[in-house]
Amino acid sequence: MSEKAARALLGQLRGATKQLTLYPIDHPATGEVLAKLRQNADALSKDSVGEVVLSILGDSLYENRSLLAHASLEFNKLLRDLQSRGIESISFEYPVSEGDVYDLVAFAAGLSGDIPAGGTIRLNEGPFTRSELESDEAISGLRRSYARSLDVLRGVALALEVDEGFDLTGATWAVEQLVEQTLAQPSASLLLSTMKSHDEYTFYHSVNVCILSIALARLAGLPEDELKLLAVGALLHDIGKVRVQASTLQYPGRLNPEQWAEIKLHPQEGAAAILAAAAPGQEIAAVVAFEHHARFDGRGYPSLVYDRERHFFSRLVATADTYDALTTRRSYRRAETPNRALQVLLQGAGTFYDPSLVHAFIKMVGVYPTGSLLQLAGGELVMVTRNNDEASDYPDVVLVRTGAGESLEVPEPYSMQGRSIVDQVTPAGAGIDPAALLEVSGYGSA
Ligand SMILES: [Fe+2]
Repeated sequence: MSEKAARALLGQLRGATKQLTLYPIDHPATGEVLAKLRQNADALSKDSVGEVVLSILGDSLYENRSLLAHASLEFNKLLRDLQSRGIESISFEYPVSEGDVYDLVAFAAGLSGDIPAGGTIRLNEGPFTRSELESDEAISGLRRSYARSLDVLRGVALALEVDEGFDLTGATWAVEQLVEQTLAQPSASLLLSTMKSHDEYTFYHSVNVCILSIALARLAGLPEDELKLLAVGALLHDIGKVRVQASTLQYPGRLNPEQWAEIKLHPQEGAAAILAAAAPGQEIAAVVAFEHHARFDGRGYPSLVYDRERHFFSRLVATADTYDALTTRRSYRRAETPNRALQVLLQGAGTFYDPSLVHAFIKMVGVYPTGSLLQLAGGELVMVTRNNDEASDYPDVVLVRTGAGESLEVPEPYSMQGRSIVDQVTPAGAGIDPAALLEVSGYGSA
């Protein structure tokens, strides 16, 4: 089963719902968007015997009985929106009619109160019981922790937007699970930390930084109770961005001085919000938020007047923050390859970043970090799934595309012995999403 068709369908459903919410039905683009959605629904249901059922259970999405781990995370917000509209399952029967597609989108967008019944798309007629679906959940722990952390961030951001108070209970609880999962499955966690989202960049970025910080702190020998305090700070480090206008955050070019001044306030804003929410003993998270853009040499922002080094946690989060930010595509620049991001860290070691943490980070992720896409001399494209720096000279990889250019639906383990790497490519350049391969390659199923 390919998760690709389901993801394409969900992406189109998300777009179509937006389109119908923002524009009138006779808008020139609406017909096109709905036609594309119908094509995707057909593609999903064409080869199946009978119907295809997408079920939403908690934060998990299933295609028939199979968990779609990556899509569950990628479309986490859409799934929530659908659930809030009362949708628990959507059944598609080939060929899907255009009228039914419209009904589905109108219902999902909250424009119609009717649940379409008896057509080629039906709601809440899923034939699977809860236990039939849950039994399939193999890598649930890690992915669920990730999804819960996203939820906590959404909740905190919402509370701050409406000037409501919050406490750190949710964040503490979410990071406890992340710490446990990251320590138990480091390679799968690092692979999951390559998840990207354009729409909710800050939230996904924050969870990734949290995972990377936990893994790095572990390597640095931090005891578990301190790991949890660090992880709360890492998860909330950018929460002050709630106070920055979206148009500034997503500005696709060079920022003007006013925009830049606005961005530079997010460490203070975040620290103040965390401090107001923190119980005694939790204040260190505010320090992390306050200092994460201060440089190792004391420059950066905000300008720190106190006569001490930045806190170890802040220096650690700054390293993970830079790595994840650089490997993510933004509206104003392309994504860097993991290897290039490591070079940037190395170049800034001693000025921007704590050199001992940069070296520890490189040791942790390896020269070719988990999730790296490598072009080999024979033309093959492989993805790094684990770094065995001590056990072997070569990382574990899976073959994603053969030398003849054929893409493998389920990547296969591949030996790097005797092969040479000619290039490292970005996920966008290769048209591949490393985190999406987490489930299909069987990683994280421990
Ligand atoms: Fe930041």
